[in-house]
Amino acid sequence: MTTKAPDLDWLDGDVPRAHGFDDTYFSRAGGQEETRHVFLKGNGLPERLHGRDTFTIAELGFGTGLNFLTTLAALRTMSDAPALTFLSFELYPMTADQLRRALGAFPELSELAQDLIAVWQPEPGWNRLNVAGARLLIGIGDARELIPEVRLQGSERGAEEGSIAPVDAWYLDGFSPAKNPDLWHEDLLKTAADLTAPGGTLATYTAAGWVRRNLQAAGFTIEKTSGFAGKREMVVGHKLDTGEP
Ligand SMILES: C[S@@+](CC[C@H](N)C(=O)[O-])C[C@H]1O[C@@H](n2cnc3c(N)ncnc32)[C@H](O)[C@@H]1O
Repeated sequence: MTTKAPDLDWLDGDVPRAHGFDDTYFSRAGGQEETRHVFLKGNGLPERLHGRDTFTIAELGFGTGLNFLTTLAALRTMSDAPALTFLSFELYPMTADQLRRALGAFPELSELAQDLIAVWQPEPGWNRLNVAGARLLIGIGDARELIPEVRLQGSERGAEEGSIAPVDAWYLDGFSPAKNPDLWHEDLLKTAADLTAPGGTLATYTAAGWVRRNLQAAGFTIEKTSGFAGKREMVVGHKLDTGEP
């Protein structure tokens, strides 16, 4: 099995848009500010990182790696940064050249982007990388098929290489739900909830009604909050602390 890179257009020079999904990877109004507003602030980051030895973030849709690298950049500003595990999924991994072009629009991430590109050789299945001291576990393939393979440390098969601590924060970043419904599927979100620590959080840029219902059915408590750059709403949420991981 081989990987399939996405067919891209480049809008405004540098904003990648996937042909197959007819959607951009990040906002044309500012990709990094969007990441900081939706995914970091939406999950209470970086504040929640203080005082933690380890922290686990998981993402649906790795794309350009912008969310990952922006998170690493935030960690770099901390004197007490935890060891980060970042789990992500990507069905159509970009080529190194595509990553280089997309990330070239964010000069403050250039060093971290180089670190990512230097180790970027995505193979179908599980890829275990180290980027600037963070552990990046990336499942190349359909997230719906790969997520059931994720093992939690402390579970029966949790000693397996690649197992993770329960997820503290989710970045739900599929393309628009209307164009990429697979990545917002109820079963996928249920498995995501099963992997989440009690009190673990989620954030997403969309407030689509059926996505909110799927999140609630999966076991998350959600609320709407103000979106990025003129978007009226986005959604944040958390898993109720039931005492069960
Ligand atoms: C909006 S983009 C993600 C942007 C990304 N988080 C970033 O920082 O650049 C959505 C991503 O989800 C991926 N994707 C879509 N369907 C998928 C699936 N079923 N499984 C895994 N990845 C999928 C797309 O290929 C695309 O890279």
